[in-house]
Amino acid sequence: MNTLLITGTRTGVGKALAEHFLDRGDRVVGCSRKSSTIDHANYSHHEADLTEPTAVKAMFREIRREHGHLDTLVNNAGTSNMNHFMTTPETVAREIFDINFFAVLNCCREAAKLLQKSEEPAPSILNVSTVAVPWALEGQLAYSASKSAVEQLTRVMSKELAGFSIRVNGIGLPPVRTVLTRTLPTEMVDDLIGRQAIKRMCTMADIVGPVEFLVSRASGFVTGETLFLGGVN
Ligand SMILES: NC(=O)c1ccc[n+]([C@@H]2O[C@H](COP(=O)([O-])OP(=O)(O)OC[C@H]3O[C@@H](n4cnc5c(N)ncnc54)[C@H](OP(=O)(O)O)[C@@H]3O)[C@@H](O)[C@H]2O)c1
Repeated sequence: MNTLLITGTRTGVGKALAEHFLDRGDRVVGCSRKSSTIDHANYSHHEADLTEPTAVKAMFREIRREHGHLDTLVNNAGTSNMNHFMTTPETVAREIFDINFFAVLNCCREAAKLLQKSEEPAPSILNVSTVAVPWALEGQLAYSASKSAVEQLTRVMSKELAGFSIRVNGIGLPPVRTVLTRTLPTEMVDDLIGRQAIKRMCTMADIVGPVEFLVSRASGFVTGETLFLGGVN
């Protein structure tokens, strides 16, 4: 039974991933600012705002006390914002970076200590990114820049953690139906899907398989990569 920490498990992609790994028989630790929406014997939830470094440290202290180690960290919690950069206040851009980049950096730093205690041959970190990066989408400057930073973190950290046998990869998602995308105009979603090689909406079922591969020993020789779904090139 592997122990995974998945951030942002109250809704959307994080919740679907948590439920998938629980169904598979793993132990999942999840977190979000609000209370849990998952009820399962092998699931525990931390109410924590990951933009608060002290809350991140406190959560990892509890995880260490309770489980002693981690086999996987999935940095999924995130937010987006649709706005021309000229009408995006600096405070909004900083808030996006706080959760999408700095929270990831802080979780990785804490998790690396617990991943080193894993008995798995290829423990790993998986960072969630977006097609907004390779497509340089208009109206998503702060969001895509924060995820670009995460992709660079993935590459650099894969080298810095290789000596500890910890792999670091990413998964790049096209539009998926969640709280994050529910307000996007249909024409915009259709336009994005039109850019994919596989011209249909990505579903949770499309995501769990690649995620399972990237955090399993089957991908034990893969690190520093961000795998994009749907055919984005
Ligand atoms: N949906 C898409 O089309 C799409 C496409 C590409 C990439 N992505 C990426 O996929 C990831 C998940 O997105 P989603 O669509 O599933 O969004 P979502 O449904 O809004 O889920 C985001 C999760 O993160 C948690 N969260 C947000 N801010 C937090 C904070 N400060 N501290 C702790 N938890 C926090 C939320 O719970 P609380 O509100 O309770 O904190 C929620 O559980 C994100 O990184 C997003 O950028 C999504």
